[in-house]
Amino acid sequence: MDEWHFPRAQLANHYLSVLELGISSNLAIIAPRRRGKTLFVLRDLAPLAQKKKYIPVYASLWQNINAPHEGLLTALEEAVQSVDRRAVFNRLLRAKIKKTTVSNELLGRMEVEFADNPSKPANRELACIEKLLAELQAKAGRKTVLLLIDEIQHLATSKAFDPLTYALRTLLDKRQGLIKSVFIGSSRHYMNLLFNEVQSPFYHFVEPVAFPDLDKEFIDFLRVKLANDHRISIAARPLQKVFSAIDCSPYWMMKIVAHMITFRIGVDEAREHVFELMEAAEGFEAIARRMKPIDKIVFLALCGRQNPFAKEFMARIGRETRVKGVPPNIQRSIQRLSAANLISRIHKGEYYIEKPGLKRYLDRDKYSSETISSQTR
Ligand SMILES: Nc1ncnc2c1ncn2[C@@H]1O[C@H](COP(=O)(O)OP(=O)(O)O)[C@@H](O)[C@H]1O
Ligand SMILES: [Mg+2]
Repeated sequence: MDEWHFPRAQLANHYLSVLELGISSNLAIIAPRRRGKTLFVLRDLAPLAQKKKYIPVYASLWQNINAPHEGLLTALEEAVQSVDRRAVFNRLLRAKIKKTTVSNELLGRMEVEFADNPSKPANRELACIEKLLAELQAKAGRKTVLLLIDEIQHLATSKAFDPLTYALRTLLDKRQGLIKSVFIGSSRHYMNLLFNEVQSPFYHFVEPVAFPDLDKEFIDFLRVKLANDHRISIAARPLQKVFSAIDCSPYWMMKIVAHMITFRIGVDEAREHVFELMEAAEGFEAIARRMKPIDKIVFLALCGRQNPFAKEFMARIGRETRVKGVPPNIQRSIQRLSAANLISRIHKGEYYIEKPGLKRYLDRDKYSSETISSQTR
């Protein structure tokens, strides 16, 4: 559904002007998965950057989940080979768009988020990254290399990746301002470890920038396309409502739209189908199975913006689980939820829910298990 891409030129312009102003040469875009970051970078930011005298180099650290340096190496190699051949360069960009779209369909179905066999980069490989970058810079002439490094949070998920983190920082530091970079990542927890911890090499080196949710204009874009291209007329309001219900994810929104077109069904029916898809894709059942009873209580408390350390929750934990409802247990539960990337701490006592759809699943699960147990009682 290529023609369904909603362009975000203004946002791309904004990021480039932040880089231009020299406030920082390294930006970080942080937003949950399936919010359209990668496609924005590939379809909006990279082409605009190219027009503005940059050489955008997109690398995903998930290309090889166990060896994130490989993504960077490949991207730099390709860029060096194609920098002076525009057609090849553009073809590479299109291939990356295609690959992203395809791998989005596989996400969640595989255990892709964490390395199962993380490997350290060899010194030779790190030296090669440096060499390629220097080569690219030399070929760039008056243009500026703009590194677009996706899934950057991955660097914080294993000690084995520390050498790459340090190498990257040194690399950019040495070329302060001569090379610019945009880091893209999806977990606030791991991004915090990477950018906000004093001992991290990226501490104060990277400027986080907001990646706003798609809004009314996106809804209007869909509404007009549905009406003009598919003769489906629907008001903005129900579309907006369903978009909020799926946590403003364009990925799930496009699934809903596809269901409406393919099966000629209304938005509510399409939403139900997509909720089911979402449960399967996000692996909610497996996640819920791995969560300890106390974790579910704490997670739901945080979803409801309630303090899990409040008396009522401590009492509930004591009553409904096998552990005591005491602060250290709740603290440990919060740590487990963060490590599993279900929540991220933003400030003291304030948390961000990384998998909002899980609440709906747990609520329903709780409801159905209560019904079952009351029926068998
Ligand atoms: N601007 C957009 N317009 C229409 N659909 C989009 C847009 N951005 C993303 N999508 C849809 O959402 C999916 C996920 O986007 P992606 O950029 O891979 O998200 P993220 O990188 O945040 O995980 C895409 O495959 C596409 O279907
Ligand atoms: Mg992405």
